[in-house]
Parts: sequence; structure tokens; C-alpha cells
Amino acid sequence: MSEVDTVRLTQLAKRAGCAAKQPPGYLLPLLGKLPVVIDPNVLVGSSTADDAAIYKLTDDLALVLTTDFFTPIVDRPYDFGAVAAANALSDVYAMGGKPLTALNLVGFPDQKLGVEVLAEILRGAADKAAEAGISIVGGHTIKSEEPIFGLCVVGTVHPQKALTNSGARQGDLLILTKPIGLGIITTAAKNGEDSLGAIQEAIGVMTTLNRVAAEVLGQFDVHALTDVTGFGLLGHLRNMTAASSVSATIWADAVPVLPASREYLKAGIAPGGTHANLRFLVDWVAFDPGITKEQQLLLCDAQTSGGLLASVPASLAEETVAALRRAGVGAATLVGEISKADGTAIRVLPTR
Ligand code: CO
Ligand code: CO
Repeated sequence: MSEVDTVRLTQLAKRAGCAAKQPPGYLLPLLGKLPVVIDPNVLVGSSTADDAAIYKLTDDLALVLTTDFFTPIVDRPYDFGAVAAANALSDVYAMGGKPLTALNLVGFPDQKLGVEVLAEILRGAADKAAEAGISIVGGHTIKSEEPIFGLCVVGTVHPQKALTNSGARQGDLLILTKPIGLGIITTAAKNGEDSLGAIQEAIGVMTTLNRVAAEVLGQFDVHALTDVTGFGLLGHLRNMTAASSVSATIWADAVPVLPASREYLKAGIAPGGTHANLRFLVDWVAFDPGITKEQQLLLCDAQTSGGLLASVPASLAEETVAALRRAGVGAATLVGEISKADGTAIRVLPTR
């Protein structure tokens, strides 16, 4: 067996995947102090905490620009590359865009790991990019203490068809396209506590491109779109409510969940990033008294390569979910609704 088969990449990382990203409470005030972007071609910049930037080239063509990288979320180098690539590509889909090409971003501890491990990470990413219909055309590599990998992705979108997180309207219903609980399961696996053997299912979810979901959603009148990653379902929904000047309700029992994550939560397993998300969100979210602390954490669980969260007109919602499921997006579910802004960003009710 070579190192590629035996290495446990997660053991080299203190924090894993999108749970390693700085919490919103840390980042948002900092971004607010940066110079205001005045370039008129910047249609979406950092001020709305959206998935990617949109830069207008002509009246009917804009670039979608995004980057995402992190430390190992899974042990096998090939899987790490594939998960990181699917996760980075997702932010282009979450803007209604089509990826064009990408660059690798790499930090690698070449004293600790053989070069064949890096080759496998890059192969996993290249295969995932190929599945998305694009090539990775270059990159940059530095020496680092922990492995770090991700992509910078460029895509295109029609300037008027970009799906931002700022278009949600009162009366919309919310659709989520992948189950949550990925952060909890990957943390259990990293700690050697994945007693239910849930990591393979989690890897399957994380390596599933949001491409098909985005293509189906693109056929409907979607008002707002984002993807659920490091800030968790409630964190990304909070960004959507803030950008759209609306409030939202989530029906806890409707949210698709990877079953093992509930069991691991009972055993106290959750990533630090998930706890940080909940601490940040207490100022924004009103939990019904019937929502347990474990359910609260689950709804804030830091996802890596999670699903799309779409705000769609109520009249089209059932039809949109049915179309998603027909196309193979089996987890697609109505999880909540949008209402008029009333000072509480999100209400979480036990049921609809
Ligand atoms: Co995103
Ligand atoms: Co992102």
C-alpha cells in the first residue's frame, strides 16, 4: 500500500473544510471597513455577503468570480480534491452562472507528505472539474504546515440573469437541495467516532455538483439563490434575509438531514465552526421553545459543498421541487418561507 492509500489527511488539519473558515461575526465588520467599490461594472461585490462577485463585461455578458480553499475535510487525497472542487464550483452555480475555467490553489507540507499525495488531490479536482465541463488551467502552490486546497473559479452569466441573494420576496417559499449534517459527520470521522459509517454517504453528498440543481432552478423564476456552506443553513439564510430586506421562517422538521448527524449530536459531536455559527446567529434567529439545542446546532452546522437554497414564488414552488427530484436532486424539499421584514431575521418553528 502506498501513502496515497493509507494517509489520513484530516489528522494533519486542526480544523476541517468550510468549518475552518472565519465566522461571519469576524468577517463582516472587517469587510465594512474596506474602501467602497466604485467600479460601475461590479454588479455584485463583497457588500452583500454573496457567493461570488459579478463583473459586467458587456450588456449581455458578465464574469462570475469566486474562490474557496480549506484544509482536509476527508482522509483520502482524491476525495479531498473532488470535494474542494465541487465546493468551489458551487458558488458559480449559486449565482446562476456557468463555470468557464479554474485555477488550483495549493498549500502543501512537502516534508510530511509525498508528492504522490498532492498528485491525487489534483486528480480528484481535475476529474470533478471535467464533470462540470471545464478544465483547470493552472494554479499556485506554496509550502504550508497543513495541506490546503481549493480553486479559483471563473464563470459567466447574463448580467440581468445573475441570481443573487438579494431578490427574495415576501410570500416566496424556500427550497433546499441537499441534506445538512455534513460538518457533524466529517468531524465524527476525523475524530474516529463515525460509529455508523456515515462518511461515505457524506462524501457522496459533498462531491455531488450543484450543477443539475442549478440548471433546473434556472428554468424557473427563482428570486434569490445561494449555497449552504460554512455559515450553515441559518447563516446563509440570514445573509439572504439581510441582502433582501425580508424575514424568513424555517420549518425544522422539513429540513432534509443526514440521519447519522442527529445521533452524533446527541453524543456531543459538532465542529467548532458550527458552535461559532450558533453563537453568532442568536442575535438574528428566534427559535421556537420546541426546538432543542441539538436541532439549533444542526440548523447552524457548517457545511462543506452543501446544497443550493432557493427563494421561489409560492405558486411555482411545488412544481420546482418536483422538477428537481425528476432530474435526480432527490433531497430537494420546501423548508420554509419568506415574509415581510419585522426585525427578526429568521424564525425557526418545529413544523409548517
Ligand atoms: Co456560497
Ligand atoms: Co464560498
